[in-house]
Amino acid sequence: MEVLTAYPGLHAVVGHRLNHWLWDKKWYWLARFLSHLIRWLTGIEIHPGAKIGRRFFIDHGMGVVVGETSVIGDDCTLYQGVTLGGTSWEKVKRHPTLGNNVVVGAGAKVLGPINIGDGARVGSNSVVVKDVPAGATVIGIPGHTVKPRVAEAHLKRAQMAKRIGFDAYGLTRQMSDPVAHAVDCILDHLHVTDERLTFILEKLAQSGVDVGELEIPEIDLEHLGDDAAGDASRAGTIPAAEKNS
Ligand SMILES: CC(C)(COP(=O)(O)OP(=O)(O)OC[C@H]1O[C@@H](n2cnc3c(N)ncnc32)[C@H](O)[C@@H]1OP(=O)(O)O)[C@@H](O)C(=O)NCCC(=O)NCCS
Repeated sequence: MEVLTAYPGLHAVVGHRLNHWLWDKKWYWLARFLSHLIRWLTGIEIHPGAKIGRRFFIDHGMGVVVGETSVIGDDCTLYQGVTLGGTSWEKVKRHPTLGNNVVVGAGAKVLGPINIGDGARVGSNSVVVKDVPAGATVIGIPGHTVKPRVAEAHLKRAQMAKRIGFDAYGLTRQMSDPVAHAVDCILDHLHVTDERLTFILEKLAQSGVDVGELEIPEIDLEHLGDDAAGDASRAGTIPAAEKNS
């Protein structure tokens, strides 16, 4: 109920589906007039000629402008204040084309007949005037690609977690949990240690020293707690008072 009644982005998109249909049927004035009414109601201006894919989401919405020849793929998100604008009045393709899964941050301006690749992210308040490759993140004015350092670190952690049989289900980029952060640090440390060990083993092998194959044991996550208690007890690390209680 809340979504149906209090999400201007939803109203604007539903209205656009009708307006685009009218536009295709060449009912230009009616389509334009209805899109004007929807703009008045929602603060979101989508030209009826714009082609928009499935599951398009406009968050907050106020101040969003989508130009006539814009093309938006599936699963894209725009935040408030985004402009998909043109840089000329010529009656040609003059607005951007967004691939699938593109996110455009609040206040960003994407200008001209440029292509924003699948999965790209446009930082809030940036001004993008050139093509953006798939998966890239662009920020600033004019928009430039930033190296996804976080994504790289995340990938390495996931690889390391997989190697040691650890389930990295909880480790996302957005995670601010201190325990998850500690696990991230351990995985980073393990990664470096692993790289060094591999290097040493290669050097040893080159020098004719056979160290054999070493298997990394998998972690049994289900019985992790039991094992830890058992191991601690066996190793005598549980304080006497705790053992007796
Ligand atoms: C661009 C964006 C997607 C990057 O997210 P990320 O992958 O987590 O990247 P980071 O936060 O690690 O930032 C990477 C670098 O870009 C910078 N940066 C991030 N967003 C920026 C922006 N909008 N403008 C300028 N610089 C930005 C960071 O300071 C960092 O710089 P550094 O490498 O010098 O430290 C994100 O910052 C963004 O703008 N998202 C839009 C969110 C939005 O509009 N929300 C509205 C909610 S109402």
